[in-house]
Amino acid sequence: MPKKVLIISSSLRQGSNSEILAREVEKGALNAGHNVEFLCLKDKNIQFCRGCLACQKTQKCVIRDDMNEMIGQVKNADVLVFATPVYYYEMSGQMKTFLDRCNPLYGGEYRFRDVYLLTTSYDDSPDVSERSTSGLEGWIVCFDKSHLAGVLSGGGVNDPKEVSNHRELLDKAYQLGKNI
Ligand SMILES: Cc1cc2nc3c(=O)[nH]c(=O)nc-3n(C[C@H](O)[C@H](O)[C@H](O)COP(=O)(O)O)c2cc1C
Repeated sequence: MPKKVLIISSSLRQGSNSEILAREVEKGALNAGHNVEFLCLKDKNIQFCRGCLACQKTQKCVIRDDMNEMIGQVKNADVLVFATPVYYYEMSGQMKTFLDRCNPLYGGEYRFRDVYLLTTSYDDSPDVSERSTSGLEGWIVCFDKSHLAGVLSGGGVNDPKEVSNHRELLDKAYQLGKNI
């Protein structure tokens, strides 16, 4: 059964390692017959959440920017895949802002169930993506029909495109996409 997969790549840099992994996930998911949409936050205008909570009455955000359309894409996806560089042992600020701006969905209907996380980092210790994962889990707890379905931690990559030399990480990302 084909699923609607939404991949959200949050790195803003050219030659992003996490985006390269996200593209491998896309390949795997397409190969498995799923429908895939790929969002690059570097192409988007996204303001910070202002915390007004108007969205809890109107289900709409008062800010008019690129999030308005992307919130709809999040709502209607079956599977979400977030990709982030590790910044100070946390998710990127861009990804956190994206999660905050999805607040119009809080308390309403949404389709997504499986949520995946891809991280890249210089450090390749096993727990390098622990805080990023924990941050995403904080969001998932609030969308309690969804759950964390998997994490791929791409450690040991720092320079742009460096992950392209790590065949094992590319393969893991492809397999993650294929097994969605
Ligand atoms: C502001 C900043 C903070 C970073 N913090 C960490 C860190 O805490 N641990 C780490 O291993 N790498 C850290 N890095 C390195 C990036 O995670 C690494 O270069 C990664 O491959 C970037 O992914 P991207 O190419 O998708 O942006 C940091 C990089 C930046 C720019």
